[in-house]
Amino acid sequence: MAVGVFDSGLGGLTVLDAVSKRLPDVPFVYLGDNKHAPYGVRDADDVYTLTCAATERLWDAGCDLVILACNTASAAALRRMQESWIPREKRVLGVFVPLIEALTERQWGDNSPPREVAVQHVALFATPATVRSRAFQRELAFRAIGVDVEAQACGGLVDAIEEGDMILAEALVRSHVDALKRKMPTPQAAILGCTHYPLMQEIFQDALGPEVAVYSQANLVAESLADYLVRHPNMMGQGEASMFLTTGDAKRVSDHATQFLRRRIQFEAA
Ligand code: DGL
Repeated sequence: MAVGVFDSGLGGLTVLDAVSKRLPDVPFVYLGDNKHAPYGVRDADDVYTLTCAATERLWDAGCDLVILACNTASAAALRRMQESWIPREKRVLGVFVPLIEALTERQWGDNSPPREVAVQHVALFATPATVRSRAFQRELAFRAIGVDVEAQACGGLVDAIEEGDMILAEALVRSHVDALKRKMPTPQAAILGCTHYPLMQEIFQDALGPEVAVYSQANLVAESLADYLVRHPNMMGQGEASMFLTTGDAKRVSDHATQFLRRRIQFEAA
């Protein structure tokens, strides 16, 4: 009864941590495609091919349901996968929709027409590929009207986090927030639209100021997954053990992951 969690690298561990706390009896198989990270600078075809390969690996590990804990894959590949690639008995879910439902104060699966919502000026921080896809704006437009979104592509930030260079990561966050504020001086809400960014959430909040509500995905995705599994209990696959898989160097990835989550994480080769 395992569920797969996929990211290009370590960022999805922020989601894994939240889903494991929310669903302690569910085994999760995590796959980081560290060999090919970052995805955020790749084109959509590349992200699609890599995401399909990783999803197949998780199906092989006994996970019929795979969460793309990667906004770049959710934005650039998921729709295409759902349209023509995923077999009937499997499911692949992204991390965008729970976030947008929270921002637009909707219940899960509420498909009523778009309406006005409390926030009107929203800053989106994401990878260049996610920003280019405009998937966030598209999903938002299905649910809300009159929301002005200013997107900031945070070049370099995922690499700095994957390398564990937190001094560079902090400098990049501050300069990307400055760049965003030049375009939108007073955002009401900020979306951390990359699963690596919650590791820098305090710096984003500090740079944005206390009046900006910062939304990050981990807990929202965990609640949404718990709700989904109550409605679709048959989507738990046959896998029984939790595992951490990587396409990269298992020792190096384990050391970085341990540093991020502040508990020992042991990766094995995918
Ligand atoms: N953490 C991923 C995301 O949520 C991917 C970052 C990357 O590989 O560039 O977008």
